[in-house]
Amino acid sequence: MAFSEAPEAATAESPEAGGKVLVKSYGCQMNVYDATRMADLLGREGYAETAEEADADLVILNTCHIRERAAEKIYSELGKLALEKRARAAEGRDMKIVVAGCVAQAEGEEVLKRQRAVDLVVGPQSYHRLPDLLKQAKQGRRLTDTEFDVDEKFDALPQPSRAQIRARGVSAFVTVQEGCDKFCSFCVVPYTRGAEVSRPVADILAETQRLVDAGVREITLIGQNVNAYRGPDDKGQEWSLARLLAHLGEMEGIARLRYTTSHPVDMAQDLIDAHESIGKLMPYVHLPVQSGSDRVLKAMNRRHTGADFLDIIRRLRLARPDVAMSSDFIVGFPGETDADFADTLALIREVGFAASFSFKYSPRPGTPGAERTDQIDEEVKRERLAALQSLLEEQRQAFNAATVGKTIEVLFEKPGRHEGQIAGKSPYMQPVHVSGPADMIGETARVAIVAAGSNSLAGRLVGKGEEAKA
Ligand code: SAH
Ligand code: SF4
Ligand code: F3S
Repeated sequence: MAFSEAPEAATAESPEAGGKVLVKSYGCQMNVYDATRMADLLGREGYAETAEEADADLVILNTCHIRERAAEKIYSELGKLALEKRARAAEGRDMKIVVAGCVAQAEGEEVLKRQRAVDLVVGPQSYHRLPDLLKQAKQGRRLTDTEFDVDEKFDALPQPSRAQIRARGVSAFVTVQEGCDKFCSFCVVPYTRGAEVSRPVADILAETQRLVDAGVREITLIGQNVNAYRGPDDKGQEWSLARLLAHLGEMEGIARLRYTTSHPVDMAQDLIDAHESIGKLMPYVHLPVQSGSDRVLKAMNRRHTGADFLDIIRRLRLARPDVAMSSDFIVGFPGETDADFADTLALIREVGFAASFSFKYSPRPGTPGAERTDQIDEEVKRERLAALQSLLEEQRQAFNAATVGKTIEVLFEKPGRHEGQIAGKSPYMQPVHVSGPADMIGETARVAIVAAGSNSLAGRLVGKGEEAKA
């Protein structure tokens, strides 16, 4: 993600302006959130944000290590940046290159060795030390910082200004939890992000209040295992995610609440019930299942069965009949047979997903899955992924088509692609566009859906939204 708007007065506040920074994020929402926090921090140091590589004096690649392809992409990106850096050096201009995020954490100093143009490698728990690290980098030192101290990081990172919040739109992420203790046998996240840590309730409420005061209408609570949230309040009592959502549901100005990503084993009944009791909690749950085969789920160390997953959805639908489901799937985990794969397709047919993400298994260094000798042929993985994706795509289209003729609430987020249009999201995360005035951006309204395109719905404004009364 690139930032197109320069933070207000970021350069004026500091006599020694740092220049222009471009933060490019890959991977999950956590990286998107961290990128904004890095930009806020550097804004305080006198850096202005830019969306253009050519303008940037400092480029931060906020990387993802989840699959081999994600990690390799970073090195090709770095190769291009290295050329740019060399070209500038010839003109006597400098460009600092920072590798942040999960590749930084996983590969550490290796990144410096593999690409000489990189100045700094900084892991996800060390961003609060960026200003100091950059000073050292400017003196010509090439450094790696992959220390873990999540609490310190949360405390030290500054909050964005009102102008920065506004520039980022009406929907914002708030990190409530970071890290993962689950150790699924295919996954690098427990190694790159460390153990599960929940932020204190007071910090989350303060951050959310700031966002809402600046005009944010939709808050998505994020965490690698967001529903494992167990954060202390001022009295030392632990709050669950459901309790946190209920509290935020009372906060004036918030129109919509969401949370992601959840793990099936942490899908507690109070969270399921929250979908019935909290009107502002949107009827959309992203709940990765990975596979429909119990044998594969066990080998993946997911600690739940296909039936457990279906039972969660049954209870969610009891609480909120219109809840839309999305999920993540992996095909070709070591040892996956045709019968296992058929179980995954059967589970998908049983649920009916509104959206999904699906991947070919990618063996990751240091994870148990990569050690297995029964790796699946690339060709088989490709075929299974194609079959899986065609079923999931059918379901997505069917879900979108089923909204045609209905009247739903839309939160408008931005101008549409055409003159006189505005665009937003349905409660079920579908992009919706209508003809309407730009001053409705930030508002919810009732929209009659008239057509479903391949990626968005077209509708007609029919009235002020219920959610807008909030
Ligand atoms: N915490 C979330 C998401 C983790 S990463 C969860 O518990 O599901 C996002 C998705 O990437 C995962 O859900 C999984 O589907 C996929 N993924 C993770 N490791 C992978 C690997 N080695 N190969 C292919 N896909 C992977
Ligand atoms: Fe990875 Fe599993 Fe943790 Fe999700 S729950 S981040 S898939 S180890
Ligand atoms: Fe990728 Fe790290 Fe997120 S590996 S998916 S950026 S936690």
